[in-house]
Amino acid sequence: MEKYFKLYNDVKIPSIGFGTWQTPEGETAINSIKLAVQTGYRHIDAAAIYGNEKSVGVGIKECGLDREELFVTSKVWNTERGYETTLKAFEKTLNDLQLDYLDLYLIHWPASAHQFNNWREINADTWKAMEKLYTEGKIRALGVSNFMEHHLETLLDNAKIKPSVNQIEYHPGCMQNACVNFCTENNILVEGWSPLGRGKVLEHKMLKEMASKYNKSVAQVCLRWALQNKVLPLPKSTTPHRIKENFVVFDFEISASDMKAINQMDNFGGSGLHPDAIDF
Ligand code: A2P
Repeated sequence: MEKYFKLYNDVKIPSIGFGTWQTPEGETAINSIKLAVQTGYRHIDAAAIYGNEKSVGVGIKECGLDREELFVTSKVWNTERGYETTLKAFEKTLNDLQLDYLDLYLIHWPASAHQFNNWREINADTWKAMEKLYTEGKIRALGVSNFMEHHLETLLDNAKIKPSVNQIEYHPGCMQNACVNFCTENNILVEGWSPLGRGKVLEHKMLKEMASKYNKSVAQVCLRWALQNKVLPLPKSTTPHRIKENFVVFDFEISASDMKAINQMDNFGGSGLHPDAIDF
């Protein structure tokens, strides 16, 4: 199992990203980032709305690695979408993270039920800003998050530069097959948020049995399963032993029949967040 995936523009992306959603700003975020880097993570998944980019930035600054050794992602929030507002939001994120470029910048959500009825135009304008940032070398890759096929189709119709990543909810019981297949056909790498189903899938009986067979934790099985399905998982933890545990997934392989069994447990433990009806 490779420790990197390659985006369509040849940019290498470390195959496990360290998630920062719900990581509290301050010492917790700073120390988690530093420990993650020490553990071997080289990919950090941030977002403006997580409210902790300043601390994530301090963690990056103090982690002891050169900037080029890390892959850093952030996302433009719903209320900042649009051409000028995206450019402004990007500068704020860059400032908060104390960086002078990002490896990947994403549109966080495609549509907001009560904010924008005109999501097609808003996303097209936002995308123009993303393309400008890419062309100017301020981001090494550009992508989206929580886009379903119809959002992607609309975006692709207008895009000069196509998205290299779509970050969606992905864990055993929530595979979003149609969306993943669409992305694969279009050479868009799928990243999985909440790869442990926010803890829910960790109690699943079959997964527990499988984990003990491989002498691994259920979390490790979930992450390895995503990797074997060519989806890049983004586990979040602020607990030191879990940060380490979630990175030890390159030393075992889930058999084809066990992969099939996990792939068949669809419709379990999903968040229920629907990209067409987000109200925030
Ligand atoms: P914590 O940060 O307290 O360690 P997801 O990535 O699916 O959204 O899940 C994140 C949740 O799962 C967090 O509550 C996190 O808690 C917990 N978590 C992360 N890694 C593990 C693990 N290896 N075992 C159990 N729970 C975990």
